[in-house]
Order: sequence, then structure tokens, then C-alpha cells
Amino acid sequence: MKNLLVTGGAGFIGSNFINYILKNRDDVFIVNLDNLTYAGNLENLKACELHKNYKFIKGDICSRELVDEIFGKYNIKHVINFAAESHVDRSILGSEIFFTTNVIGTNVLLEAARRYEVERFLQISTDEVYGSLGPEGLFTESTPLSPNSPYSSSKASADLMALSFHHTYGLPVVITRCSNNYGPYQFPEKLIPLMIINSLNDKKLPVYGDGLNVRDWIYVVDHNRAAELVWEKGTPGEVYNVGAEQEMNNIEIIKLILSYLGKSEKLIEYMKDRPGHDRRYAIDASRIKNELAWKPEYKFEDAIKETIDWYLNNKPWWENIISGDYRDYYRNMYEKFYKH
Ligand code: NAD
Ligand code: DAU
Repeated sequence: MKNLLVTGGAGFIGSNFINYILKNRDDVFIVNLDNLTYAGNLENLKACELHKNYKFIKGDICSRELVDEIFGKYNIKHVINFAAESHVDRSILGSEIFFTTNVIGTNVLLEAARRYEVERFLQISTDEVYGSLGPEGLFTESTPLSPNSPYSSSKASADLMALSFHHTYGLPVVITRCSNNYGPYQFPEKLIPLMIINSLNDKKLPVYGDGLNVRDWIYVVDHNRAAELVWEKGTPGEVYNVGAEQEMNNIEIIKLILSYLGKSEKLIEYMKDRPGHDRRYAIDASRIKNELAWKPEYKFEDAIKETIDWYLNNKPWWENIISGDYRDYYRNMYEKFYKH
């Protein structure tokens, strides 16, 4: 049995990871440590609540005492660190919590991993650490780090710290840097769920700048298959880019969602641009493909429809979110910050 600490497992990608692993394997015992910020939601994990190989602990990765206790009590030998403040716009409004969770929290986990001699530590990072691309070219693992937002600079800091623990102490750290994910259980502050939900509610669709910024989209299950592989088979000290070669600009995606839902393009509303808005991300995933035989299984044109259908079929999940604190966030962001 592999005793695996998953942090941030109640969020979008982490909950999809736990659901995927517990459905497909019986040799992994998962302890999920999550302090249930606005983005954490135990509804995402209903299917595994009572699973014999699953234990949820509500708590903060920044708490050294709690983290130590968990490593000792559950004999943790593997760590996958999904926990983070993950939204660029929120990091522009206030950065402190991003550095506390994403940097200090990662440090607490790395220190415990060192003391308890873990066999593997996977740091879930992002392609945003590389900064922004022009119209040509792809991010490779040797692209220099050049993060532009408080969010991405906190993630780059955590990457460097994790690699230094490998270099200095020999801690078996591996890192994934993935592109933009989409799929079930994504919190509706992010582009795709926000546009689906606003379309369904006939609300305006707020587009930053000219809407021509490009992201390289990957279905969350493909990311998690990559995370599973890198966790178990990646070379310690190495970074693996993850992406599915599915570049799209924002307006293309929004029009596709409107057309699938039979809604008018008149809902589109152009807003101010995001400060420091990265123009384009695109991933070269050759290393993980060649070394670990990973390849994406989902095509954007199919998985985006599955995702829209998921939001159509799971209204109570998102209605519950948008009727709470999210309303204040939305007003602040879209009726003040981004309003022309
Ligand atoms: P999310 O915001 O949906 O979930 C984050 C989770 O972390 C939440 O459950 C939250 O409660 C938990 N958390 C936050 N602070 C914590 C703390 N101090 N202690 C314990 N738990 C805490 O994020 P996501 O989109 O699922 O992203 C997960 C990871 O993947 C992040 O590290 C992010 O940087 C990275 N990533 C995300 C994407 C993407 O497109 N969403 C792409 C590449 C990488
Ligand atoms: O690239 C990986 C990263 O992708 C992850 O590390 C981050 O955690 C994740 O949030 C995501 O960051 P982005 O900033 O690319 O995602 P977001 O969904 O916020 O925005 C995608 C694009 O859509 C971006 O160009 C900004 C634009 N956008 C976004 C929102 C929320 C809009 O035009 N309007 C919006 O309302």
C-alpha cells in the first residue's frame, strides 16, 4: 500500500485526482489535507467519502504541527501538493495569501517530507511560471522562468524551493508544469465555468481586453493521468511540462460555449484588460511523452461538450456556490475592477 498525502484535494484538480485514483486503484491510501478555502468543496468528493482507502483532514498546509502529526500517524511516504491559491485575478487584488499558502505552505510540506524521508514529492506547478509567449514558439522545461503575476511568481518560488530540496538534501522531488485545465468541479471564477454559468443565466460574458489571449487547454483527467505517472515514474529533480496541444483564444471558446447552448453573442461584454495579462501560453510536452509514454486522450471539441453538459446536469453544485460569498467577489471584480 502506498500512503499518499494529497493536499488541496477538495479543489478542482485535486478532487478529480482523488476520484480518479480511488476508482482505478486499490494500492493507494490517500490522506486529503485541505483547509476548505472558498475553492475547497467536499461535495466534489461525495463518491469517495466512505472509501476504505480515504481519509479527509480539514487543516492548513502552513501548520507545521498538524503536518508533522499527519506524516507520523499515517506513515506518509508520498506527497502530491495541489494545495494553492490558484486564481490570477485574486492575486492581483491581494497577494499576501498567495505567498503564505503557495510558498510557506510548500516549505512546511518539504521540511516534513525531508524529516520523514518520503519516497516521492510531486509539486503541482503551472506553465505560468514561464511568463508569456509571442505568436510563435512553445514552453519547454528549459525555458527561463519569468512569472508575471503575484500568483505565478509564488508558484515559481515554490518550484525553485522544491528543486533546491532535491539538490541540497536529495529529497526525491518531481514537478509538473501543466497548462490550463477544464472539466467538472472547476470553481466558476475561471474562464470556462464562468462563461458556461453566465450563459445559462443569460448574464453578460466579461471578456478582458481584446479577447485574443491564447491558452493551451487540457482536460483535467489528462492532467491527472500525467500527475500519476510523474509521481511514480518521473526522475527525481526533473520538471515535466504537461499540455495537450489545444491552443484556443478566449473569444473562440466563448463563442463555442454560446453556440452549444444556443445563446446570443450579444451577451459578450468587453472589459478593461487584466493588468499584466499574459498573451499566450503553449506547451511542448515532448519530455513526458518520450520518457513516460504519456499522451492526452481527450480532444477539446469533445471534452468541452462533456464539460458544458456536466454544468448543465449539476446545477445545484454551482448554484450553491454562486449564491454565497461569490456574489461579493463577482460584484467587486466585474462591476468595479474590470468595468470600463
Ligand atoms: P483550486 O483553487 O480549485 O483548489 C485549491 C485547493 O487548495 C482548495 O481545495 C483549497 O481549499 C485548498 N487550499 C488552499 N489553501 C490551502 C491551505 N493553506 N491548506 C490546505 N489546503 C489549501 O485549484 P486548482 O485549479 O485545482 O489547482 C490545483 C493546483 O494545480 C494548484 O497548485 C495550481 O497552481 C495548479 N494548476 C492549476 C491549473 C488550472 O488550470 N486550474 C493549471 C496548472 C496548474
Ligand atoms: O496556465 C495554467 C493556469 O491557468 C493555472 O496555473 C491557474 O491556476 C489557472 O487559474 C489558469 O490561469 P489563467 O489566468 O490562464 O486562467 P483564467 O481562467 O483566469 O483565464 C483564462 C483566460 O481568460 C485569460 O486570458 C483571462 C481571460 N478571462 C478570464 C476570466 C475569468 C476573461 O477574459 N474573462 C474572465 O472573466
